[in-house]
Amino acid sequence: MADICLWINFLTALVIKVAILISGRGSNMEAILRSIRSGKLKGVEVDVVISDNPESRGLAIASDTFRVPTRAIPAKGLRGWDYDRKIVEALEQYGIYPKDGLVCLAGFMRILSPEFVNRYKMRIINIHPSLLPSFPGLHAQRKAVAYGVKVSGCTIHFIDEGVDSGPILLQKAITVLDSDSEETLSSRILIEEHKLYTKALKLIAQGKVYCKGRRVILIKKNTTSSE
Ligand code: GRF
Repeated sequence: MADICLWINFLTALVIKVAILISGRGSNMEAILRSIRSGKLKGVEVDVVISDNPESRGLAIASDTFRVPTRAIPAKGLRGWDYDRKIVEALEQYGIYPKDGLVCLAGFMRILSPEFVNRYKMRIINIHPSLLPSFPGLHAQRKAVAYGVKVSGCTIHFIDEGVDSGPILLQKAITVLDSDSEETLSSRILIEEHKLYTKALKLIAQGKVYCKGRRVILIKKNTTSSE
């Protein structure tokens, strides 16, 4: 039932209220904000950008370049739900509720507690720089080069209680070159990440996404039933 709700709620919501959670550079966040500003991404508004790191470059970009409210919430030794409840308080303060809000993780370097994940069930998405389920966790691009895979890429997925293990919404594959280092592969994947996040948000805003078990179904244009 909760699975189907994602689709129905987003179909009826005029604008999806979004929070972006970051920890550092914030280039994916910036790509989303640019897509909204340029009119490429409609039906989505970013109400707050939150970081666990007050020094995040992304926080300054969000507030200075895009005039989006920001919140720095350092962990100060807090873990799990003790920390996450502070995030939830901020989300609620900006009107981002599970009913019709969406939380976008974009380089947020913390594992979310089960309490947070269950409260915002199927309302949290993440971008990961590999073709999941290959290379979950940290240093995905380094692991891909070291393993010698010929194809890697990026994945947008819903968050469940595991690490990078939730239902997959979109993936983009790219060729791994013999000459690739961790850095060169990372930078080519990052270009695709920026496009994929906008694409995923557009699909959600258009009400074209719902879940059947762990399979995310993308409804094709002008059809009313699942494929
Ligand atoms: C990206 O590679 C993303 O896939 C991963 O962390 C990185 C964040 O980069 N989860 P940025 O902060 O969006 O520039």
